[in-house]
Amino acid sequence: MNQTLKFSFRNLFLSCVCLLLFACGGNPEIISPDGRTRLSFVTGADGCMAYTVERDGKPLILPSALGLVVQERNLAGGFSVREIVKRSVDETWTQPWGENKILRDCHNEMTAVLKNDDGVLLTLRFRAFDDGVAFRYEWEVPDLDSLTVTDELTEFRFAEDGVSWSIPGNFNTYELLYRELPVSAVENANTPFTFRVDGTYGSIHEAALYDFPEMNLYRTDSLAFKAELAPLPDGIKARIPSKFMTAWRTIQVGDKAVDLINSSLILNLNEPSKIADTSWIKPQKYIGVWWGLHLGTHTWTMGPRHGATTENALRHIDFAAANNIQGVLFEGWNEGWENWGKTQHFDYVKPYADFDLDRIAAYAREKNIELWMHNETGGNIPEYEAALETAMQRYAGLGVHAVKTGYAGGFRDGQLHHSQYGVRHYQRVVETAARYGIVIDAHEPIKDTGIRRTWPNMMTREGARGMEWNGDNNSCCIKTTLARQIANWVIIYSPLQMASDLIENYEGHPAFQFFRDFDADCDWSEALQGEPGEYIVVVRRADDSFFLGAGTNDEPRTLTQKLGFLKSGMTYTATIYADAPDSAENPENYRIEKRTVTSADMLEIAMTARGGQAVTFVPVNE
Ligand code: NOJ
Ligand code: CA
Repeated sequence: MNQTLKFSFRNLFLSCVCLLLFACGGNPEIISPDGRTRLSFVTGADGCMAYTVERDGKPLILPSALGLVVQERNLAGGFSVREIVKRSVDETWTQPWGENKILRDCHNEMTAVLKNDDGVLLTLRFRAFDDGVAFRYEWEVPDLDSLTVTDELTEFRFAEDGVSWSIPGNFNTYELLYRELPVSAVENANTPFTFRVDGTYGSIHEAALYDFPEMNLYRTDSLAFKAELAPLPDGIKARIPSKFMTAWRTIQVGDKAVDLINSSLILNLNEPSKIADTSWIKPQKYIGVWWGLHLGTHTWTMGPRHGATTENALRHIDFAAANNIQGVLFEGWNEGWENWGKTQHFDYVKPYADFDLDRIAAYAREKNIELWMHNETGGNIPEYEAALETAMQRYAGLGVHAVKTGYAGGFRDGQLHHSQYGVRHYQRVVETAARYGIVIDAHEPIKDTGIRRTWPNMMTREGARGMEWNGDNNSCCIKTTLARQIANWVIIYSPLQMASDLIENYEGHPAFQFFRDFDADCDWSEALQGEPGEYIVVVRRADDSFFLGAGTNDEPRTLTQKLGFLKSGMTYTATIYADAPDSAENPENYRIEKRTVTSADMLEIAMTARGGQAVTFVPVNE
């Protein structure tokens, strides 16, 4: 099938374009509002479908196949175009939290309505934005209730080789090391698959993933990749209703690497919020009874070194209240940790006897601190789903608004984390939590496809290979400088930012002032400069204050940054948390400097190897 497709598209592409133009009397293409990116749709003589992408008149994606394979009907070929409809959208929308609270959705859309001999009705919806293109399949198959998906044919055929950044394809975890490889050397990858081809930075990903497996990319030809869907245990990729809409397949583009960070294409492709009152969904900073568990100084299970004891809980709540921190996470508070690695049975409501949940919750309410409950499932989904409703109800009754979920270890019965089964489960948790006024921080999650626009209680994911991997007892020292660790609170966006070390390490530490001052509820953000794997500078504004974070790789680096983002006519006190000259060798060394600046000033950001810099800008007249 694939070989046939490749052959027919290579040879018939031009004649197909002509045929299609003739048949529809309209151009089956859309161009981005800025006129630079063109997406064209073509059907071949056999009714197979393909698309191409050009940027600035040059091919970026060559004719690449479209379609699904299901057991019941032909969803891959025999199609003829019934109608091409085009429209333009330019609207501004707001969200309760995010890198940017006000976003613009400006795109041109083309829907191609097709039908084939099997009576299959397909609406292919294409969109072209200035920051990329996207398409999705909307199927209607008559006389059937459901479809058994065995493959997706979507291809991405690069016109030229380039460099790429990605993690390997994997349907269970994203906690893998990033690789920088020529596009032609990538065998398989998860998305986002970031690339630079002929001066264009881009990223292949997906948006609005619901009730369908995630997409990985598998190389089929030197520069061609095909969508590979995470399978169910019987090898079937998905079971879907006969009327079904897939996730969007997306290709973001930009002139600079930071354009990809600043792109809002993924969010724009998601539906508006389904939660009417979002006033209870609040970005926050938090600490936790957590790192001691990983250091081995404390235990999840009850015993002499138990971390989640009443006494320790109250101590953490006091620390949070005294340091402008809004939440405290408790791991190892509930019964079941003794089953870890065995039955993976957890009780999601019963606290250990030395953790007085009612008293702790009352104390947290009194101190105006949010209590975070941890739900580690150990991959035991059936038991967690059975307990979910009762657990969320209990937490809501205690005044809890945040739950960190965890899925360490394999799912039961050969199910994969990123399969349709997994996607359904993660979504069920989000929607159940929403009904109880609870936000989710998912560990070992399904990747972000922008569903936070529709479900703003899906606040954060701990999916990538995080720094917990670097903190094991065998390592001699922290892997980056202290200033860089501070800068990461700005660089790595999350509305829920954790100070994850033991609180005694923060107590009285001058540099902890940054976290006290930091506001996780930003209104506006911009990635100002950067190159993948090399360096980055990001700025965020929260109310009238700005927070800047910069970081470098193994190279010491001095960057120059214009402060034009500050409000003109205002004077700010800049507090700079910078590397000390010897921070590369002594990563805990740092310096703090205060300066008065305006938007006309320039900041010189000197960083040692593995270093960084964080700056708060507070208006002087405050
Ligand atoms: C792995 C997570 O990385 C960590 O945050 C958590 O403490 C453990 N699982 C136990 O749930
Ligand atoms: Ca982890």
